[in-house]
Amino acid sequence: MSIILAPSLLSADFSKLGEALVQIESSRAEWIHLDVMDGHFVPNITFGMPVIKSLRSHSKKIFDVHLMITHPERYILDFKKAGADHLTIHQEACPHLDRTIHAIKEAGMKAGVALNPATPIQTLQHVLPYLDIVLVMGVNPGFGGQSLIPYVFEKIRDLRKWIDTQNLSTHIVIDGGVSIETLPDLIKAGVHGLVAGNAVFQADHIEHQINQLWDQAQSVLQA
Ligand code: DX5
Ligand code: ZN
Repeated sequence: MSIILAPSLLSADFSKLGEALVQIESSRAEWIHLDVMDGHFVPNITFGMPVIKSLRSHSKKIFDVHLMITHPERYILDFKKAGADHLTIHQEACPHLDRTIHAIKEAGMKAGVALNPATPIQTLQHVLPYLDIVLVMGVNPGFGGQSLIPYVFEKIRDLRKWIDTQNLSTHIVIDGGVSIETLPDLIKAGVHGLVAGNAVFQADHIEHQINQLWDQAQSVLQA
């Protein structure tokens, strides 16, 4: 088992996205995390299909698209066409979770569900076997650069036990608040996937920073 690092472009300089992609491309990051926000489910607004489509031709990495939008079921095929490999929707934004998860998979993408910090993991009990990814929010979604909410560790530990007991291969990915400081305890709690915005893009050299975070995480995983 190895660490998956997913730099989140939300924290990048949007006037230099192409340059950021070049550095990510040669790094150990396997996924690129793309945060789509609608100003409704979350207070912020970011980008949508056209931006993802333009980036697609500049990267061979896995596009891990995180939809922070209401009624995400309306846009499944649009994101597939734009180049998404993974589509993660929010439990809180989607009343027809079962149907939507299946629709994402039928469209040929891996399906993820994100949980806001206050949403219990038990809400996923019945759909967990169908999920490729559970995206555990370490902060309230909407903005990069926030501090990790400490009770999230307990959710991760419980989810790890649950996934292992059922022998599932679902990825547990943490999104929000990942840093050099929080990373070791997150890995020990049970995540293998790390979304990192500020921890990557505040650095002078993006590729180097990604590789450093990856090395640190991998050594904790193997310890
Ligand atoms: C927040 C987004 C995150 C964000 C994380 O709502 O979903 O992906 O980019 O940023 P950091 O890593 O800076 O907390
Ligand atoms: Zn995200």
